[in-house]
Amino acid sequence: MDNIDMKAIQWFPGHMAKTRRAITANLRLVDAVAELIDARTPMSSRNPEIDSMTASKPRIVLLNKCDLADSNATSAWINYLKKDNVTALAVDCKSGKGINKLLPTLKATVLKELMEKREKNGMSGAPIRLMILGIPNVGKSSLINRLAGGKRAKVEDRPGVTRTKQWVKLKDNTELLDMPGVLWPKFEDQSAAVRLAFTGAISDDILDIETLAMKLLVFLSESYPQALVERYKIEFNDADDGLSLLEKVGKKRGMVISGGEINTERAAITVLDEFRSGKLGRITLELPEEI
Ligand code: G4P
Repeated sequence: MDNIDMKAIQWFPGHMAKTRRAITANLRLVDAVAELIDARTPMSSRNPEIDSMTASKPRIVLLNKCDLADSNATSAWINYLKKDNVTALAVDCKSGKGINKLLPTLKATVLKELMEKREKNGMSGAPIRLMILGIPNVGKSSLINRLAGGKRAKVEDRPGVTRTKQWVKLKDNTELLDMPGVLWPKFEDQSAAVRLAFTGAISDDILDIETLAMKLLVFLSESYPQALVERYKIEFNDADDGLSLLEKVGKKRGMVISGGEINTERAAITVLDEFRSGKLGRITLELPEEI
């Protein structure tokens, strides 16, 4: 097993306890929770305690960055969650795609009972209050900016929810807690940590960059071989390992140092950057059937 440096992930038991307390306290103020996960890593980007932490509240799961994920896999994940009675939507907070479905879906599904109760009690004018939860980098600030319009403060990657609560008014009489809850990812599971590092959700430093890129190349050669062929114009077969794939990419890109040796560090940075920015195509790193 590679030596993954978990300290680089920056979450400690004290932080986690503080976050749990802050979220529990803020949950009392809202009607529903929007849980943001990364559509490329729907399993690994889910906080392991979110189910128990938010059990008392209606919740919708948003598979964000769906523009970077394999659309068949995203549909499979939505169906998988549906079978588990979880309402989920695919969104792209960068372009705004799918976000206009959030409020109508909430009202028609997880908040249906509340809406009916309010209607019956003559309270239909009461605002719907929402909290956004998710791991660092999953797109929480982008979602708030999209929903609220205009640029808001960048959410800091620090544990918990800020003390100063601010409500942002949205259309349809909905209010959003301006500062979302920043949760810790599933880093106890080493393969989940590696996938999160592929997407840039956690620091590259958990592994050296070349090892990380080699692992990504092996995954791609098995699950999305065409992406490698099209982007790098390389040929490979079962005999190739991570290093030979990385060297082939480096060679094709002319990343050669003195003596003809391939600059595998540069090649690794290129592969990771291109994967993260979607240049290798739409790729999902884990599927529901693998659970
Ligand atoms: P956070 O608050 O949860 O920490 O995440 P944030 O909104 O800051 O988003 C983290 C990065 O992910 C940002 O990129 C953001 O643009 C990008 N992002 C968010 N949602 C989407 C999406 O649906 N699709 C894609 N492709 N990217 C998304 P960045 O490089 O850090 O900043 P910038 O590119 O916005 O300058």
